[in-house]
Amino acid sequence: MRNNKLYIVMVGLPARGKSTIAYKLKENLTKYGIKTGIFNNGDLRRRLTGLETSRPEFYDPDNRQGAELRGKIAITNMGRAADYLKRTGYVAILDATNVSLKRREKIAGYITNHPILFIECINGDEKILKASIQRKVALPEFSHLAKEDATKIFLQRVEYYQKLYVPLKAERNYVKLDSLNNKILAEEITDKIPYWDRIRDFLVTDTVKNLFLVRHGETRFNLENRIGGDSDLTENGVAQAQGLARYFQRKKVPVIFTSEKKRTVQTAVPIKALQKKCTIIPLKDFNEIDSGVCECMSYEEIRDQMPHVFLARKNDKYNYVYPDGEGYASMKHRMDMGIKKALYLSRDSQSIIIVGHRAVNRMILSHFLYRREEDVPYIYVPQDRFYHIVATQDKKLLQLKPYTL
Ligand code: F6P
Repeated sequence: MRNNKLYIVMVGLPARGKSTIAYKLKENLTKYGIKTGIFNNGDLRRRLTGLETSRPEFYDPDNRQGAELRGKIAITNMGRAADYLKRTGYVAILDATNVSLKRREKIAGYITNHPILFIECINGDEKILKASIQRKVALPEFSHLAKEDATKIFLQRVEYYQKLYVPLKAERNYVKLDSLNNKILAEEITDKIPYWDRIRDFLVTDTVKNLFLVRHGETRFNLENRIGGDSDLTENGVAQAQGLARYFQRKKVPVIFTSEKKRTVQTAVPIKALQKKCTIIPLKDFNEIDSGVCECMSYEEIRDQMPHVFLARKNDKYNYVYPDGEGYASMKHRMDMGIKKALYLSRDSQSIIIVGHRAVNRMILSHFLYRREEDVPYIYVPQDRFYHIVATQDKKLLQLKPYTL
């Protein structure tokens, strides 16, 4: 049974999504009866040393004592992983930064009985990184510190790791993964890697367990058939938001993403109010289509005052770009980025809500559901229902659901 066991070694600076990928990979493989264990150096260090090792100096490569202790922890976990594969496990994931060549050579020298697949997580998006670090410093390890001090300490720790960082290149089997975009940047597979097809496909799949895609409640502009702007919810709109809040009260929704427009935030606030723990994260990427010179006009006014705009848009709604504004096609990039950011920032959550706009929600739906481009600008996006989306490697579900007011 030598060839159906595998070590996976995560590589990457702190806050690059390694642990999440390790966890999701474990969940995914386990579902297929492939018993998988995670051996996390950080967890072991915290268990062994408590708060003492949250100090940045512990990570200074010149601090011999720190380096020794980290080396010992790595060896202990390697031993545990090897033991796990010897007994009942099939895949053992070593979850740590493993950024130095020396450390990786040590690993390759120590565990030789089964192949090793290295997965390097890379994420250069500053904003996402900042948000990930904010989540990290909220962990118990930093709870004794003020937020700014914890952030400073964490960044110092990253800097120490950066000094030792040698990207994957010499290893026999590796994948370099853009962990924000689920994109493989480079891969090298020399040995026969068990479950490789499944793992590779998993790494590039956008996964969302439960995404509830909601359109903001009714606004005055909606009643007047006006587009764009930044109007408030009407009384009916507030009632719709409260109806949604009652519906979602029965579920745990730790994160709600909105646009930066008042109508989406006003829809999210009552939902948050009925949740135990919930954060609203407004993302500019989810702002409604910018209708340029037509902002705040009604469709009738556009038809009467700018017939050329009206006609051109009617003829090719997907590709048409409003003068000084946007079109569906030109919004695609920012929508894709918004979706990636939302999925990345909520990656441990079982359920998330996005409160968007009509055009925005059409684009989000088309990200998960195949539609011909010319049909995307006509997808049905009502205000008294929401879409429930599940997208995993094995399951795609899309359901339009009503909620009661
Ligand atoms: O609710 C109105 C609205 O969100 C406008 O702000 C936006 O311009 C429009 O819907 C998008 O829908 P369509 O592309 O069908 O005009």
